Amino acid sequence: MNINIEKNSPIADLDTGFAEEVIKKIRKYVNDRSKMAGHPLRYYNFAMGCQMNFHDSEKISGMLSLMGYEETRDESEADFIIYNTCTVRENADQKVYGKLGYLKHYKAKNPNLIIALCGCMMQQPEVIQKIKTSYRQVDIVFGTFNLHKLPELVLEHLESGSQIIDIWEKHEGIYEDLPIIRENPYKASVNIMYGCNNFCSYCIVPYVRGRERSRNPEDILKEIRHLADRGIKEVMLLGQNVNSYGKNLETKVTFPELLRMANEVEGIERIRFMTSHPKDLSHELIMAMKECKKVCNYIHLPVQSGSSRILEKMNRHYTKESYTALIEEIRKEIPDILISTDIIVGFPGETDEDIEDTIDVIKKCGFCNAFTFIYSKRTGTPAAAIEDKTPESLKKERFQKVLKELNETVGIIHSQFVGKTLRVVPEEVNKQDETLLTGRSDNNLLVHFKGDPVLIGREVPVLIKESKTFYLLGEALI
Ligand code: SAH
Ligand code: SF4
Ligand code: F3S
Repeated sequence: MNINIEKNSPIADLDTGFAEEVIKKIRKYVNDRSKMAGHPLRYYNFAMGCQMNFHDSEKISGMLSLMGYEETRDESEADFIIYNTCTVRENADQKVYGKLGYLKHYKAKNPNLIIALCGCMMQQPEVIQKIKTSYRQVDIVFGTFNLHKLPELVLEHLESGSQIIDIWEKHEGIYEDLPIIRENPYKASVNIMYGCNNFCSYCIVPYVRGRERSRNPEDILKEIRHLADRGIKEVMLLGQNVNSYGKNLETKVTFPELLRMANEVEGIERIRFMTSHPKDLSHELIMAMKECKKVCNYIHLPVQSGSSRILEKMNRHYTKESYTALIEEIRKEIPDILISTDIIVGFPGETDEDIEDTIDVIKKCGFCNAFTFIYSKRTGTPAAAIEDKTPESLKKERFQKVLKELNETVGIIHSQFVGKTLRVVPEEVNKQDETLLTGRSDNNLLVHFKGDPVLIGREVPVLIKESKTFYLLGEALI
C-alpha cells in the first residue's frame, strides 16, 4: 500500500491487517476517482467533545488513510467529510446541525463528496429521525459502538449510492486491531475502559456510551510498550471513570495496580489519566500516584457543585465535606500536586446558597484550572424531569460569579510558580508568536518559552518569569 507514513512512525499504526478485503475494494474506487479528479482524494476529520472522541477520531483517520484518502485541514477541498459528534450539552448538537447546512453547498460543488456522521449524538433515535427526514445530504451514519464498521459502511454506500445508517444499541466486544493515525508523535491516548455506569442525573454519557467495560491489562500494557518502542514518551490513560477500572474483568486488576504496571514500561516518561470520579478515588490510588515516578503530579477531579444538597440530586455519591477532605488527603501525601475540576452552574433548583457552597469549595481547594458549564437539559436523563424555575439570566449571573472566583484562584496558583523551575515538554510552536514553544509541565501547567523547535517532544527545564491567569511564561535553562 502506498501510504506516505513511515512504517515505524510513532504517529501511525496502519499495518494491523484490519478489514483487508473491504479496504481493498474501497482503495480501487478511491484510486479510480483520484485519477479522474487529477489529485489524491482527501478526507477532513473533525472531532468534538472529550478526549475519548478525539482518540476515536485518530482511529477514523487510520481507517480513512488505509482506504487511500489523504488528510486535508481545508474542509472545502475534501472528498470525504466526517464529524465525530458530542452531545453532552445541547449547544454541541446545534453546532452539528449548523455545519450540515453549509455542507449542502460543498456537495453541490462536488457531487462525489461523502458526508459521514458518528459519535455520541448519533446514539439518539430523535437525531437519526431528523437526519433521515431533513438531512439527506448525509451519506453514512454510525454510532459509538460500531466505529470499526466504517469501511463496510463506506463500501455499502459506494455500491448502493444510498444513505447508510447503522446504529447499535450496545457494545459487542472490544476491537484491538484498529489502524490509527495519532495527532502527536510524543504523547498518545490509550483507552483503558469504555462507557460509564454512574448515571449522574444530568449526564447523557451513560446512555450514549453504554455500560462500563474494561480492556484487559495485558492488551493495555502491550499497547503502551509498543508506543514506547515507537518513541512515544507520554501516555494518557482514558476512561469516563478510571477509578472503577477492572471491575468487570475476570482476573481483578484495580486502576492503581494498572498504574504501577504502566510505570514499569521502559521509555515512557509521563503517565496521565482522566477522568477520576471523587466517589471512588481510593487511598490505594493516591499511594500509587505518590510512589510511581512517571505518574504526573496532577489530577482532574470534577466536583460539579460545592453544595451537598445539589450533589445528592446530581447522584454524585459524595458531599461538600467528603470532597474537600479527599483533596486534603491527596495533598497530604503529594504536597505539590495540582488539581483541576469541572463545575456545572444552574442545575435545576440551585439557589444562591448552593452557589455560595460552590464558591467556598473553590476557595478551599485551590484549583489550578476549571471547566465551567451552564447546566444543559438532556432529554432522557433524570434531571430533565426536575422542574426548573430559575431564569436563564440569573443562571448566567451566577455563572459569572463562579468564573470570577475561579479566575482569582487559578491566577494565584499560577503566580506561585514565578521564580521556580518547571520541567516542560514543548509540544508545538506557539500559534500566536512563532518564537515561542508551547508545552505542559509535569503538573499540567501551560507554559510558553522562547526556544528552538528541535526541542519539541523533549523535557526542558524552564525558569518561570511571568504568570498570566491560565498560563506561564518562562525561559529555557539549557
Ligand atoms: N466522566 C467525566 C466527564 C464527562 S462529561 C466525569 O465524570 O467527570 C464532562 C463534563 O461535562 C462533566 O464533568 C460535567 O461537568 C459536564 N456536563 C455533563 N453533563 C452536563 C450537562 N447536562 N450540562 C452541563 N454540563 C454537563
Ligand atoms: Fe457523566 Fe457522571 Fe459518567 Fe462522568 S461519571 S460520564 S459525569 S455519568
Ligand atoms: Fe461528549 Fe460523548 Fe465525550 S457526549 S463529552 S463526546 S463521551
